[in-house]
Amino acid sequence: MSRKLKIVKSAKFVKGQITLPGDKSISHRTLLFASLAKGKSQIKFLNNGADVLSTIGCLQKFGIKFQLGRYSIEVDSSGFKKWDRENVGTINCGNSGTTSRLLAGLIAGQGINVKMTGDESLSSRPMKRVINPLLEMGAEINSDDGKLPLIFGDKKLKGIRYTMPVASAQVKSCLLFAGLFADGKTYITENIKTRDHTENMMKMFGISIFKKKDVISISKLKRPIVPFKYSVPGDPSAAAFWVAAGLLVPDSKLTLKRVSLNPSRISYIKLLQQSGCKIRINPIDKSLEPFGDITIQTSQIKPFSVNKKNSASLIDEIPILALIATQAKGKSVFRGVKELRFKESDRIKSTVESLRSLGADIKEYSDGFDVFGPTELIGNTVDSYGDHRIAMMLAIAGLISTEPVKIKNHSIVNISYPDFYEILKRISRKR
Ligand code: S3P
Repeated sequence: MSRKLKIVKSAKFVKGQITLPGDKSISHRTLLFASLAKGKSQIKFLNNGADVLSTIGCLQKFGIKFQLGRYSIEVDSSGFKKWDRENVGTINCGNSGTTSRLLAGLIAGQGINVKMTGDESLSSRPMKRVINPLLEMGAEINSDDGKLPLIFGDKKLKGIRYTMPVASAQVKSCLLFAGLFADGKTYITENIKTRDHTENMMKMFGISIFKKKDVISISKLKRPIVPFKYSVPGDPSAAAFWVAAGLLVPDSKLTLKRVSLNPSRISYIKLLQQSGCKIRINPIDKSLEPFGDITIQTSQIKPFSVNKKNSASLIDEIPILALIATQAKGKSVFRGVKELRFKESDRIKSTVESLRSLGADIKEYSDGFDVFGPTELIGNTVDSYGDHRIAMMLAIAGLISTEPVKIKNHSIVNISYPDFYEILKRISRKR
């Protein structure tokens, strides 16, 4: 952890074009599918953050080989039937919830004896949400009260019918991956729709997966996936920080290139467009995982509401939406978002406390918060709470604060966006 503070001062305007890092969710999944394939797959524009490196580090323990090029990575696997099963020992998921939940499905599914660990933040996050349904499928998993480390045994799984108690793409994906190795069919009912990358990629890679109304069904994988070439679209959750910068800093215009336009990921853009924001989408590719360019201009913003129903498809954008709400004229309501308490930090607390210390008028509830805008942000020394999305939100706040925002533990942005501060500097014109 760097002891130095990251100091962000107000900008006269932001302008330019930005190419986003590869989408983090899609990057994790592409690595997992390439590891189930037999042969060499090539992935372009993989997210270069520490979370995705954690997935690679774990997969290496199962004998999967990776060769890093400048813009692409080659994944060489002998197919899921030949994963190393003996003496894997411990895999470390670092800070990455997605690595731990998705791999839990694959490991339990294949019945591999492994100990799964993570960093301090991940070790405090709930794992019962995946342990319980996996136990129902017949898995053997030991844990200390539903937290990491998890110890997996070598039991065989059977398909189950499961209705998701929390809206979580990680849990859904864990069960889809486990279902690939279970006898019989696995049925998952999702009452609130979450990101659907796992389902899309399963279709792309020829896996038999079906969706009827809210129920997704998956059958046992009979043969390894055929190796593939895939280019990961830009990360819409990373794009959200530049969307905010373009909207909030006066006289600004930004264009974001090749951003994922998956409908389950861009609800925040729709919400902001309905609130008067000048955001234009130019679709380029309309395949299962579509992408395109996004242009943002400085806007007058009306207040908006986030609730239980719409929150699942903008869950990672809530801290930056809260910052945007501080500049909207009126009360913006964020409720039914208790899930935020179980992210890399307690994101209700970290968003409320950090924005309040910058002068925002914000009221905390057990399941969310209200933001009363517009308020002038005054700058301060603020902690990132060890959370990449809070650090990036605070940096964007610095662009519109009267005094500098000084961010403690700022290098945590490396989790998803190592080039973030470099780009911030490039697009910002100093006062
Ligand atoms: C993710 C799903 C979301 C999200 C996380 C990535 C994924 O978590 O917050 O950053 O890649 O599936 P939940 O599914 O737990 O809500």
